[in-house]
Amino acid sequence: MVKTANIITLLCNKGGVGRSTTAVNIGWSLADAGRNVLICDLDSQANASYNLSKDYTVVESGKNISQMMANGTGSFSDYISDTRHSRLKLLGSTLFTDKTEADLRRNQTMNSHRIFESKLDRSTREDFDYIIFDTPPSKSSILMLNALIVSSWFWYIIGAEDQWALDARVIMDKIVADVKKLNTKLNALPVLLTRYKKNNTQSRYMKQICEETFEKGVFPECVRDTTSITKSNSARQSIFEYDRRHNCAKDYAAASRNLIETVENRKNNEIGPEKTVPHNDESSIHDMGY
Ligand SMILES: Nc1ncnc2c1ncn2[C@@H]1O[C@H](COP(=O)(O)OP(=O)(O)O)[C@@H](O)[C@H]1O
Ligand SMILES: [Mg+2]
Repeated sequence: MVKTANIITLLCNKGGVGRSTTAVNIGWSLADAGRNVLICDLDSQANASYNLSKDYTVVESGKNISQMMANGTGSFSDYISDTRHSRLKLLGSTLFTDKTEADLRRNQTMNSHRIFESKLDRSTREDFDYIIFDTPPSKSSILMLNALIVSSWFWYIIGAEDQWALDARVIMDKIVADVKKLNTKLNALPVLLTRYKKNNTQSRYMKQICEETFEKGVFPECVRDTTSITKSNSARQSIFEYDRRHNCAKDYAAASRNLIETVENRKNNEIGPEKTVPHNDESSIHDMGY
């Protein structure tokens, strides 16, 4: 049987919760665990792209999401570039990703949220074990909708100190519910709590709330809050390059083990083919006017 990638979209319509940091470090630790990983950066802030790219000028000069979207026949494999890890690749973003979003919105058609379906080519699906989409902090991103339509999993990343991330959840849940009408294989992963402070009441309260209110609860291991992450991000490195022995690197390694267990066990236990994606229930996404 031909293997196909596990496709995951990182979610939370709030900025600063650690989504890009997670894309970088989960990507790196999955690659360390022997998986071939593609990180797709859909955010014009391009933090994950800066941190991961082997040479960002390669991204700037054409290997990026905007160029892929502008090229009617271009597919993912044409726009992938190298990172500093041999098993980890990047579909990078630049400041122009904002313009790509604006163009998509201006020229919106019934199929604007289904463009990745045709661009995500067979070789990309088969070359990678994991394709992970880092998303912008906007609930109205058409690129994010594209990512959800091709994903098997959505993964809430929540900052443990950030009550607002929970308040902002209602609309994201509505978007996921609408996408599920088009993509019946979309599943929730347990939440990853980041910036977790072990002896802090707020962190523990957030974990409990997430346990009680999210469909699949919370992954047992959280990612701790530490200035080493800020420093590794400033150095444009993963925590594994910056300080591999740091406990936060161990947190991300544990989180990727949790992820592998959840995703790969389920895949192994799956019976029969996945349901096909119907093409006849587009109305809700358009009517919502996200
Ligand atoms: N575990 C952590 N400990 C401390 N700071 C963190 C941690 N994770 C992320 N940060 C910091 O929080 C800020 C937002 O992180 P980022 O990954 O860019 O979030 P998002 O992509 O959700 O906007 C950055 O300054 C980053 O360095
Ligand atoms: Mg980000």
